Amino acid sequence: MPSAPVVEPASSSTPAEPAVTVRKLGGRIGAVISGVRLGGALAPAVVAAVRAAALEHKVVFFRDQDHLDEEGHEAFGRLLGTPVAHPTVPSADGRYALGIDSGHGGRANQWHTDVTFVPAYPAFSVLRAVTVPPYGGNTLWSNTAAAYAGLPAPLRALADALRAVHSNDYDYAALRPDARPEEFAQYREVFTSTTFRTEHPVVRVHPETGERALLLGSFVQRIEGLTGHDSRVLIDLFQSHVERPEHTTRWQWRTGDVALWDNRATQHYGVDDSDDHDRRLRRVTIDGDVPVGTDGRRSVLLSPDEVPAPGFGIASGASTAA
Ligand SMILES: [Fe+2]
Repeated sequence: MPSAPVVEPASSSTPAEPAVTVRKLGGRIGAVISGVRLGGALAPAVVAAVRAAALEHKVVFFRDQDHLDEEGHEAFGRLLGTPVAHPTVPSADGRYALGIDSGHGGRANQWHTDVTFVPAYPAFSVLRAVTVPPYGGNTLWSNTAAAYAGLPAPLRALADALRAVHSNDYDYAALRPDARPEEFAQYREVFTSTTFRTEHPVVRVHPETGERALLLGSFVQRIEGLTGHDSRVLIDLFQSHVERPEHTTRWQWRTGDVALWDNRATQHYGVDDSDDHDRRLRRVTIDGDVPVGTDGRRSVLLSPDEVPAPGFGIASGASTAA
């Protein structure tokens, strides 16, 4: 059954403007938005509807946005906040567009939230499919607020009390034993050119929705105050709730698709099953704020002393700092 339009056309005299509709993909996460031609010139009511849908459904998808180039992609991102470049990886366009390319270490086949090794990691990510493989290469997202809400009460209380250290300097060889030499080189020389360590609460209170969400993923190194074994067992326990299929959605990319997700309430996983076929996506991230735990404590950067400004634009969190 088609969804009711959430934004009517501005007036009946502009029939070229279709109504914006939001169609859910599953009970807990994911929706397809139609009736929007993405770019920097959307009406405020459309931007508000898109933002509200992203907050409610955690990830929203737009088909047939082939008209978008790097400039239009960035311009759409600006309607959601301030774009921020990756802290260490140079962009594909000299500005904000991160290249996620199959041949250049761009295989993100670990469950993660983008850039959680810095305190004010991105609020939103906007991913655009430029080249898609003939098969495979899907992306999965999980609703980390639903994962938290679904925990039994004693585990919610435990998670509320924990903090975890995230770093971009993880054991790449252990996680990616089949990585190619150029992927190792990309990881060593570029991705970890600055090593970040950040302590986050394991449960963050969402600054816009007030929801509590698990904050874990592959950049987590350990739970603060626990020994290695206890730490790993607890990380695996909570992470297993994030990865429950009921909390996830899976997207099969077509060229011109755009996915917009709330990076504060999701994890995602790029499935590496396209063999050697080309897969190229472009990602623009929107600056976020420093997470706050259920006890009111904020995340803390442990090292280095501050997050340096990237090659272009502001440093992470600069646009949201109080
Ligand atoms: Fe990612």
